[in-house]
Amino acid sequence: MNSVIIVAAGSGKRMNMDINKQFIKLNKKEIVAHTIDAFYKNDNIDEIIVCIKREEEELFKDKIINKYKFNNIKIAYGGKERQDSIYNGLKCLDNKCDIVLIHDGARPFVDDRIINESIEVAKEKRAVVVGTPVKDTIKVVLNGSIKDTPNRVNLWAAQTPQVFEYKLITKAYEEAYENNYYGTDDSMLVENIGQEVTMIMGSYDNIKITSPEDISIGEQILRLRK
Ligand code: CTP
Ligand code: MG
Repeated sequence: MNSVIIVAAGSGKRMNMDINKQFIKLNKKEIVAHTIDAFYKNDNIDEIIVCIKREEEELFKDKIINKYKFNNIKIAYGGKERQDSIYNGLKCLDNKCDIVLIHDGARPFVDDRIINESIEVAKEKRAVVVGTPVKDTIKVVLNGSIKDTPNRVNLWAAQTPQVFEYKLITKAYEEAYENNYYGTDDSMLVENIGQEVTMIMGSYDNIKITSPEDISIGEQILRLRK
């Protein structure tokens, strides 16, 4: 059984609007609805859990679940940090779950190829991150001064989904909380328990809607897809 946890319980502060960015529309449809739809339509997904803010539950049910007639979506409540939201989501998984996909609600352009390939590789390798080779040269900067230039050939930008065996990801999260450790993605928690993680190609379209300019980029991606 393959389950996805979609995290949508952030505030979207960098978007600078007075609503959670998940509810902003791209071509007349809310960002989080695009994201849920990508998994809802995929034949390899058996369970969908969406982590939302407790105070947005009515809004989410009304504007997303009921409006788009998404059936069998489970709701978990978000926490203070993204990691806390996922931890809550993990506790809601069906006990028959084998593979867990973790995905940002704010990445609406994930597609079937990425979902299917990440599940397939996770079944064999236990842990998978989807990402893309970086195009820019990346600098390590401290107080305005360049300290290092890592070889670009080895640098990838991590996206989601990040996909794991159920036992592995729950163990990684439990250990992180025992050690009071917070990572910036899920893979870091799994790397910390000594598990090798495989990187596979995501797509340059699989962007995270983060700041205002991403809205028009997102609408352009949707237009080109049609
Ligand atoms: N997220 C979450 N719970 C949190 C924080 C973030 O579920 N406590 C989710 C967001 O809803 C988003 C994803 O994690 O889908 C990636 O986070 P990010 O892009 O940083 O979204 P926000 O935290 O909402 O935005 P910002 O950091 O600009 O406030
Ligand atoms: Mg954030």
